Amino acid sequence: MTQKILQTGAFVVANDLSQEHLNRIWSETMDQGRLKLLLGGFPNLDTSSIPPLDAVHAAWVLHFMSGEEAEATAYQLFQHLKSGGRVYASVAPLYANEWPGLEAEIGKRKQHDLAYPGFFENTDEFDNWSHDNTRPAPTKFHFFDEESFKRVFESQGFNVIDSFWFTRPSTNADSPVDAKKDLGIIVEKP
Ligand SMILES: C[S@@+](CC[C@H](N)C(=O)[O-])C[C@H]1O[C@@H](n2cnc3c(N)ncnc32)[C@H](O)[C@@H]1O
Repeated sequence: MTQKILQTGAFVVANDLSQEHLNRIWSETMDQGRLKLLLGGFPNLDTSSIPPLDAVHAAWVLHFMSGEEAEATAYQLFQHLKSGGRVYASVAPLYANEWPGLEAEIGKRKQHDLAYPGFFENTDEFDNWSHDNTRPAPTKFHFFDEESFKRVFESQGFNVIDSFWFTRPSTNADSPVDAKKDLGIIVEKP
């Protein structure tokens, strides 16, 4: 994605908490003059070197955060975006068919009016993740629903332009059916 955005002529700040991932982006980039690398994990990183932004693309990252961490990240993005600037974000889906009991647990939490019922600090309690064990299970994971994903951004002053379920083009053809649905959102700073 970084390379695609660079091809439009834009100046890009690429963030990741992994130096290795940033190195890969750097080595694949022809025009390094328009690329700035920012190492560290949102929301706990120094973002003071980020220039005013027109847009942010955040794919498959926010689902590693609690609701509070995602809100703090949305707050930081809001501070760095220009007025009218947008965030395009997506999170991985609810793998309901690989996590027996998960939907029931989330349903129970919803009855208690939790703002972020899909957040799990420790997914080990659902120990039958992945029938073939070829995909590692993240310990901390946020199974967002549409309402709580919108909440992350609306709570920080963004307007929601659109939110939708979609099939990520790169999703493996052999993924379970549920794994083919990602949740996307487009929000705008007033
Ligand atoms: C599942 S990958 C997604 C990569 C890419 N955005 C994509 O859609 O293919 C998640 C990436 O987010 C990074 N990451 C995880 N938590 C992060 C955080 N709090 N802040 C910044 N990057 C984070 C990981 O190091 C990893 O490179």
